Amino acid sequence: MDRIRIVGGNALNGEIEISGAKNAALPLMIAALLTDEPVTLLNVPRLADVKQLERILENHGVDIAVHGRRRGDREMGGQRLTITAGDIVDTTAPYELVAKMRASFWVIGPLLAREGQARVSLPGGCAIGTRPVDFYLEGLRALGAQIDIDGGYVVAAAPGGRLKGATVAFPRVSVGATHVVMMAASLADGTTVIENAAREPEVGNLADCLVSMGAKISGIGTDRLVIEGVERLHGTSHEVLPDRIETGTYAMAAAMTGGDVLLRGARGDLLQAALDSLGEVGVTVSHETEGLRIKRNGNGLTAIDVETQPFPGFPTDLQAQFMALMTRANGTSAIKETIFENRFMHVAELARFGADIHVDGQTATVRGVPELKGAQVMATDLRASVSLVIAGLAARGETVVNRIYHLDRGFERLEDKLSRCGAEIERVTG
Ligand code: EPU
Repeated sequence: MDRIRIVGGNALNGEIEISGAKNAALPLMIAALLTDEPVTLLNVPRLADVKQLERILENHGVDIAVHGRRRGDREMGGQRLTITAGDIVDTTAPYELVAKMRASFWVIGPLLAREGQARVSLPGGCAIGTRPVDFYLEGLRALGAQIDIDGGYVVAAAPGGRLKGATVAFPRVSVGATHVVMMAASLADGTTVIENAAREPEVGNLADCLVSMGAKISGIGTDRLVIEGVERLHGTSHEVLPDRIETGTYAMAAAMTGGDVLLRGARGDLLQAALDSLGEVGVTVSHETEGLRIKRNGNGLTAIDVETQPFPGFPTDLQAQFMALMTRANGTSAIKETIFENRFMHVAELARFGADIHVDGQTATVRGVPELKGAQVMATDLRASVSLVIAGLAARGETVVNRIYHLDRGFERLEDKLSRCGAEIERVTG
């Protein structure tokens, strides 16, 4: 298995091109199942999770064309995919495919809405808590679906082949359940109201795409979405948002090592809470026309407390990276994780660098140390893995991050992007 080798200590200086968001690209690709016409997605990141979802969609009978570079395209720009679900030949999403990635479960919404039935394996994904699917099932039941669990599969059917609009009030904010109910409702008979909808920018990106496919959705960007079902949806062309988590990750890497980095294509409005926290820590964030500039001159980092929250709060997907940053701050930081129950897997690995972190329930207390020392580390989820890279960039000596499978799921050309800014980082194969 590939590893990443880092020799820490170099400041980051230069430019990093921000890719399209994984968590926007995945639901947009799934939305293409809602129409028999081609859906072209621009700025799709080249990631293992995107490839995995292509396999799943192909199994349903979907054709996917990857377009080559065009004149004027940026060297590090995303890819253009055309996805055509002309004829859905299979409404089963099998265990072997779905178990690898939780988002693939989301095909249940479009399959049920368009074909009147779906049989989808219960999902897998990163080891960050139990991650049940009860909100999805309650939401789809409210739209009239009959649902059974059989042999590890969710077997769903819409009586008469069509779902019916209804009010769905989620007990807590769920990004995936909002995606699924919104997709399903756009092809249902009548009007659906989603209360307590997720406001994450990726939900807005999907809603905008559905609208350009002919869906009638209002309240986009708020926690109350109103969806008037339509008979059919048509093809479209839609751009994937820049990745706010990749943006925040590189911002924290720059903050950790010192230096001056332009995050090209980044949009500050997608991660204002995290940028505000970086400001409090002592990092200068400036909004420029090409993106965001992150600067830390020789001054130290100040420890602050953060608590993860649904958007627009501090994102759980940046919690591990922020914890890595706080290991080197002056003072003590309390980091509270409120979204997932078990998202502190990186703590034991950060300790290998000499970090001082104590976990009590949902809160990690991080006491800044004067120095991290390079180590052999390994992580079991995507954002945890990249927090180890951030620690390695600042640590004295050599760090080897093992099992980088998770990094490839969510970070496009990570070692390339960082080494262009002066980091000593390479992939070691085998
Ligand atoms: N939840 C339930 N029941 C449900 C659904 C969710 O209890 O039926 C709980 C979850 O267990 C969790 C909370 O609700 O405690 C929020 O989970 P949510 O459904 O919002 O998460 P998700 O849709 O599965 C997406 C991202 C995650 C990100 C979360 C929160 C994608 C592909 N995944 O997951 O991203 O952490 O929203 O913002 O969009 C990542 O990219 O590394 C990642 C884990």
